[in-house]
Amino acid sequence: MKQKHFIGILLLAGCILLALSTLGWSDEDERWEHEEEGYGFWQQSSDIPPVTNNTYETECSACHFAYPAGLLPERSWVRIMQTLDQHFGDNAELDAKTSNEILDYLRGHAADHLPNRFSRSLLRSLEADETPLRISETPFFRHKHREIPSRMVARNPEVRSFSNCVACHSMAKKGVFNEHGVRIPGFGAWED
Ligand code: HEC
Ligand code: HEC
Repeated sequence: MKQKHFIGILLLAGCILLALSTLGWSDEDERWEHEEEGYGFWQQSSDIPPVTNNTYETECSACHFAYPAGLLPERSWVRIMQTLDQHFGDNAELDAKTSNEILDYLRGHAADHLPNRFSRSLLRSLEADETPLRISETPFFRHKHREIPSRMVARNPEVRSFSNCVACHSMAKKGVFNEHGVRIPGFGAWED
Protein backbone atom coordinates (compact mmCIF):
# COMPACT_ATOMS: atom_id res chain seq x y z
CA MET A 1 0.00 0.00 0.00
CA LYS A 2 2.70 2.47 1.02
CA GLN A 3 4.60 1.87 -2.19
CA LYS A 4 1.48 2.53 -4.28
CA HIS A 5 1.05 5.81 -2.45
CA PHE A 6 4.58 6.79 -3.22
CA ILE A 7 4.18 6.01 -6.92
CA GLY A 8 0.95 8.00 -6.95
CA ILE A 9 2.69 11.02 -5.48
CA LEU A 10 5.55 10.71 -7.97
CA LEU A 11 3.07 10.61 -10.86
CA LEU A 12 1.22 13.64 -9.51
CA ALA A 13 4.46 15.57 -9.11
CA GLY A 14 5.40 14.62 -12.68
CA CYS A 15 2.07 15.91 -14.01
CA ILE A 16 2.42 19.21 -12.16
CA LEU A 17 5.94 19.70 -13.51
CA LEU A 18 4.76 18.94 -17.02
CA ALA A 19 1.84 21.37 -16.71
CA LEU A 20 4.14 24.11 -15.41
CA SER A 21 6.70 23.65 -18.14
CA THR A 22 4.03 23.68 -20.87
CA LEU A 23 2.78 26.99 -19.52
CA GLY A 24 6.34 28.30 -19.70
CA TRP A 25 6.82 27.19 -23.30
CA SER A 26 3.56 28.58 -24.55
CA ASP A 27 4.77 32.06 -23.63
CA GLU A 28 8.17 31.78 -25.20
CA ASP A 29 7.40 33.89 -28.25
CA GLU A 30 5.86 36.71 -26.25
CA ARG A 31 8.11 39.71 -26.33
CA TRP A 32 6.68 41.30 -23.23
CA GLU A 33 6.25 38.22 -21.15
CA HIS A 34 9.80 37.19 -20.36
CA GLU A 35 9.57 38.12 -16.70
CA GLU A 36 6.28 36.33 -16.39
CA GLU A 37 7.45 32.75 -16.16
CA GLY A 38 5.44 30.89 -13.61
CA TYR A 39 2.69 33.49 -13.84
CA GLY A 40 -0.65 32.34 -15.06
CA PHE A 41 -0.73 29.09 -13.18
CA TRP A 42 -3.40 30.35 -10.79
CA GLN A 43 -5.55 31.93 -13.43
CA GLN A 44 -6.16 29.26 -16.01
CA SER A 45 -9.90 29.56 -15.62
CA SER A 46 -9.88 33.27 -16.44
CA ASP A 47 -7.17 35.12 -18.37
CA ILE A 48 -8.31 38.49 -17.15
CA PRO A 49 -10.79 39.42 -14.40
CA PRO A 50 -14.27 39.66 -15.98
CA VAL A 51 -16.45 42.76 -15.58
CA THR A 52 -18.02 43.10 -12.12
CA ASN A 53 -19.78 46.47 -12.30
CA ASN A 54 -23.42 46.42 -13.44
CA THR A 55 -23.58 50.07 -14.46
CA TYR A 56 -20.54 49.69 -16.70
CA GLU A 57 -21.82 46.40 -18.09
CA THR A 58 -25.25 47.88 -18.91
CA GLU A 59 -24.23 51.28 -20.25
CA CYS A 60 -21.22 50.21 -22.24
CA SER A 61 -22.50 47.05 -23.87
CA ALA A 62 -25.22 48.60 -26.03
CA CYS A 63 -23.01 48.75 -29.11
CA HIS A 64 -20.26 46.27 -28.28
CA PHE A 65 -19.24 43.88 -25.54
CA ALA A 66 -18.17 45.57 -22.27
CA TYR A 67 -14.40 45.20 -22.50
CA PRO A 68 -12.64 44.01 -19.32
CA ALA A 69 -11.11 47.05 -17.55
CA GLY A 70 -7.76 45.27 -17.24
CA LEU A 71 -7.18 45.52 -20.98
CA LEU A 72 -6.30 49.23 -20.92
CA PRO A 73 -4.32 51.48 -18.59
CA GLU A 74 -6.07 53.98 -16.34
CA ARG A 75 -5.03 56.92 -18.52
CA SER A 76 -6.83 55.36 -21.50
CA TRP A 77 -10.09 54.87 -19.62
CA VAL A 78 -9.92 58.48 -18.41
CA ARG A 79 -9.56 59.74 -21.96
CA ILE A 80 -12.27 57.43 -23.30
CA MET A 81 -14.71 58.59 -20.61
CA GLN A 82 -13.82 62.26 -21.26
CA THR A 83 -14.54 62.00 -24.97
CA LEU A 84 -17.76 59.94 -25.02
CA ASP A 85 -19.54 62.61 -27.07
CA GLN A 86 -17.15 61.75 -29.91
CA HIS A 87 -16.75 58.03 -29.45
CA PHE A 88 -15.51 56.35 -32.64
CA GLY A 89 -18.09 58.18 -34.71
CA ASP A 90 -20.88 57.74 -32.15
CA ASN A 91 -22.20 59.87 -29.34
CA ALA A 92 -22.10 57.69 -26.21
CA GLU A 93 -22.37 60.52 -23.68
CA LEU A 94 -23.77 59.72 -20.22
CA ASP A 95 -24.97 61.85 -17.32
CA ALA A 96 -22.25 62.90 -14.87
CA LYS A 97 -23.26 60.55 -12.06
CA THR A 98 -23.31 57.43 -14.25
CA SER A 99 -20.17 58.46 -16.01
CA ASN A 100 -18.29 59.00 -12.71
CA GLU A 101 -19.34 55.64 -11.35
CA ILE A 102 -18.13 53.91 -14.51
CA LEU A 103 -14.87 55.85 -14.53
CA ASP A 104 -14.19 54.96 -10.88
CA TYR A 105 -14.76 51.31 -11.64
CA LEU A 106 -12.61 51.30 -14.79
CA ARG A 107 -9.74 53.16 -13.11
CA GLY A 108 -9.74 50.87 -10.10
CA HIS A 109 -9.64 47.76 -12.28
CA ALA A 110 -7.38 49.06 -15.05
CA ALA A 111 -4.26 47.24 -16.22
CA ASP A 112 -2.07 49.33 -13.87
CA HIS A 113 -3.65 47.64 -10.86
CA LEU A 114 -3.90 44.04 -11.99
CA PRO A 115 -1.13 41.52 -11.49
CA ASN A 116 -2.28 39.18 -14.28
CA ARG A 117 0.05 38.50 -17.20
CA PHE A 118 -2.10 39.98 -19.98
CA SER A 119 -2.50 43.32 -18.22
CA ARG A 120 1.17 43.49 -17.38
CA SER A 121 2.26 42.56 -20.89
CA LEU A 122 -0.15 45.03 -22.41
CA LEU A 123 1.19 47.83 -20.20
CA ARG A 124 4.77 46.96 -21.00
CA SER A 125 4.01 47.07 -24.72
CA LEU A 126 3.12 50.78 -24.40
CA GLU A 127 5.38 53.83 -24.14
CA ALA A 128 4.83 55.73 -20.88
CA ASP A 129 3.32 58.69 -22.75
CA GLU A 130 1.10 56.59 -25.03
CA THR A 131 -2.63 56.67 -24.31
CA PRO A 132 -4.39 54.28 -26.68
CA LEU A 133 -8.14 54.58 -27.05
CA ARG A 134 -8.33 51.06 -28.40
CA ILE A 135 -7.22 47.75 -26.93
CA SER A 136 -6.98 46.55 -30.52
CA GLU A 137 -4.33 49.20 -31.32
CA THR A 138 -1.89 48.27 -28.57
CA PRO A 139 1.33 46.51 -29.65
CA PHE A 140 0.45 43.65 -27.31
CA PHE A 141 -2.90 43.10 -29.05
CA ARG A 142 -1.37 43.39 -32.51
CA HIS A 143 1.33 40.92 -31.63
CA LYS A 144 -1.21 38.40 -30.34
CA HIS A 145 -3.35 38.74 -33.49
CA ARG A 146 -0.60 39.14 -36.08
CA GLU A 147 -1.29 35.78 -37.74
CA ILE A 148 -4.97 36.40 -38.42
CA PRO A 149 -5.61 37.40 -42.06
CA SER A 150 -8.11 40.16 -42.88
CA ARG A 151 -10.41 37.76 -44.73
CA MET A 152 -11.24 36.41 -41.26
CA VAL A 153 -11.78 39.88 -39.76
CA ALA A 154 -12.46 43.05 -41.79
CA ARG A 155 -13.69 41.10 -44.81
CA ASN A 156 -15.68 38.67 -42.67
CA PRO A 157 -19.27 40.00 -42.42
CA GLU A 158 -19.77 38.20 -39.09
CA VAL A 159 -16.72 39.84 -37.51
CA ARG A 160 -15.90 43.11 -39.34
CA SER A 161 -13.50 44.50 -36.78
CA PHE A 162 -10.98 43.40 -34.18
CA SER A 163 -13.06 45.41 -31.70
CA ASN A 164 -15.66 42.64 -31.94
CA CYS A 165 -13.91 40.35 -29.43
CA VAL A 166 -16.96 38.20 -28.71
CA ALA A 167 -17.35 37.21 -32.36
CA CYS A 168 -14.22 35.06 -32.02
CA HIS A 169 -13.58 34.63 -28.30
CA SER A 170 -16.52 32.50 -27.23
CA MET A 171 -15.68 32.90 -23.52
CA ALA A 172 -14.75 36.60 -23.55
CA LYS A 173 -17.49 37.50 -21.09
CA LYS A 174 -15.89 35.21 -18.55
CA GLY A 175 -12.55 36.90 -19.12
CA VAL A 176 -11.20 33.91 -21.05
CA PHE A 177 -9.22 34.85 -24.17
CA ASN A 178 -6.89 31.91 -24.67
CA GLU A 179 -6.77 30.37 -28.12
CA HIS A 180 -8.71 27.27 -27.05
CA GLY A 181 -11.88 29.35 -26.75
CA VAL A 182 -11.47 30.91 -30.20
CA ARG A 183 -14.04 30.14 -32.93
CA ILE A 184 -13.81 32.42 -35.93
CA PRO A 185 -17.24 32.65 -37.61
CA GLY A 186 -17.12 30.92 -40.98
CA PHE A 187 -13.69 29.44 -40.21
CA GLY A 188 -14.15 27.48 -36.97
CA ALA A 189 -11.61 26.76 -34.26
CA TRP A 190 -8.22 28.42 -34.45
CA GLU A 191 -5.34 26.09 -35.16
CA ASP A 192 -1.97 27.66 -34.58
C1 HEC B 1 -23.56 54.24 -29.31
C2 HEC B 1 -22.72 53.06 -29.40
C3 HEC B 1 -21.62 52.91 -28.35
C4 HEC B 1 -21.73 52.96 -26.98
C5 HEC B 1 -22.97 53.20 -26.14
C6 HEC B 1 -20.39 52.71 -26.47
N1 HEC B 1 -19.51 52.49 -27.51
FE1 HEC B 1 -17.53 52.03 -27.31
N2 HEC B 1 -17.40 51.89 -29.35
C7 HEC B 1 -18.39 52.17 -30.25
C8 HEC B 1 -17.90 52.01 -31.59
C9 HEC B 1 -18.69 52.21 -32.88
C10 HEC B 1 -16.55 51.59 -31.48
C11 HEC B 1 -15.59 51.24 -32.61
C12 HEC B 1 -15.81 49.80 -33.01
C13 HEC B 1 -15.03 49.36 -34.23
O1 HEC B 1 -14.07 50.01 -34.63
O2 HEC B 1 -15.39 48.30 -34.78
C14 HEC B 1 -16.27 51.52 -30.04
C15 HEC B 1 -15.06 51.14 -29.50
C16 HEC B 1 -14.74 51.15 -28.15
C17 HEC B 1 -13.44 50.81 -27.61
C18 HEC B 1 -12.23 50.35 -28.40
C19 HEC B 1 -12.35 48.88 -28.79
C20 HEC B 1 -11.07 48.38 -29.44
O3 HEC B 1 -11.01 48.37 -30.69
O4 HEC B 1 -10.14 48.01 -28.72
C21 HEC B 1 -13.52 50.97 -26.25
C22 HEC B 1 -12.42 50.71 -25.23
C23 HEC B 1 -14.86 51.42 -25.94
N3 HEC B 1 -15.58 51.50 -27.14
C24 HEC B 1 -15.32 51.73 -24.68
C25 HEC B 1 -16.64 52.10 -24.40
C26 HEC B 1 -17.10 52.47 -23.08
C27 HEC B 1 -16.24 52.53 -21.83
C28 HEC B 1 -18.45 52.73 -23.20
C29 HEC B 1 -19.42 53.14 -22.12
C30 HEC B 1 -19.12 54.40 -21.44
C31 HEC B 1 -18.80 52.56 -24.61
N4 HEC B 1 -17.68 52.19 -25.30
C32 HEC B 1 -20.08 52.72 -25.13
C33 HEC B 1 -19.69 52.51 -29.94
C34 HEC B 1 -20.22 52.62 -28.67
C1 HEC C 1 -11.14 37.54 -35.78
C2 HEC C 1 -11.21 36.87 -34.51
C3 HEC C 1 -10.71 37.62 -33.26
C4 HEC C 1 -11.15 38.82 -32.76
C5 HEC C 1 -12.22 39.74 -33.33
C6 HEC C 1 -10.39 39.04 -31.54
N1 HEC C 1 -9.51 38.01 -31.34
FE1 HEC C 1 -8.24 37.80 -29.77
N2 HEC C 1 -7.45 36.15 -30.62
C7 HEC C 1 -7.91 35.54 -31.77
C8 HEC C 1 -7.07 34.38 -32.07
C9 HEC C 1 -7.23 33.44 -33.25
C10 HEC C 1 -6.11 34.31 -31.04
C11 HEC C 1 -4.99 33.29 -30.89
C12 HEC C 1 -3.85 33.74 -31.74
C13 HEC C 1 -2.69 32.78 -31.71
O1 HEC C 1 -2.47 32.11 -30.71
O2 HEC C 1 -1.98 32.71 -32.72
C14 HEC C 1 -6.37 35.45 -30.14
C15 HEC C 1 -5.64 35.73 -29.00
C16 HEC C 1 -5.99 36.69 -28.06
C17 HEC C 1 -5.30 36.91 -26.80
C18 HEC C 1 -4.08 36.13 -26.30
C19 HEC C 1 -4.52 34.82 -25.73
C20 HEC C 1 -3.36 34.00 -25.21
O3 HEC C 1 -3.64 32.99 -24.52
O4 HEC C 1 -2.20 34.36 -25.46
C21 HEC C 1 -5.96 37.91 -26.15
C22 HEC C 1 -5.64 38.48 -24.77
C23 HEC C 1 -7.03 38.35 -27.01
N3 HEC C 1 -7.01 37.58 -28.17
C24 HEC C 1 -7.91 39.35 -26.71
C25 HEC C 1 -8.83 39.88 -27.62
C26 HEC C 1 -9.66 41.06 -27.35
C27 HEC C 1 -9.67 41.82 -26.03
C28 HEC C 1 -10.39 41.29 -28.48
C29 HEC C 1 -11.32 42.43 -28.76
C30 HEC C 1 -10.82 43.79 -28.49
C31 HEC C 1 -10.03 40.26 -29.45
N4 HEC C 1 -9.08 39.43 -28.88
C32 HEC C 1 -10.57 40.13 -30.71
C33 HEC C 1 -8.98 35.95 -32.54
C34 HEC C 1 -9.68 37.13 -32.37
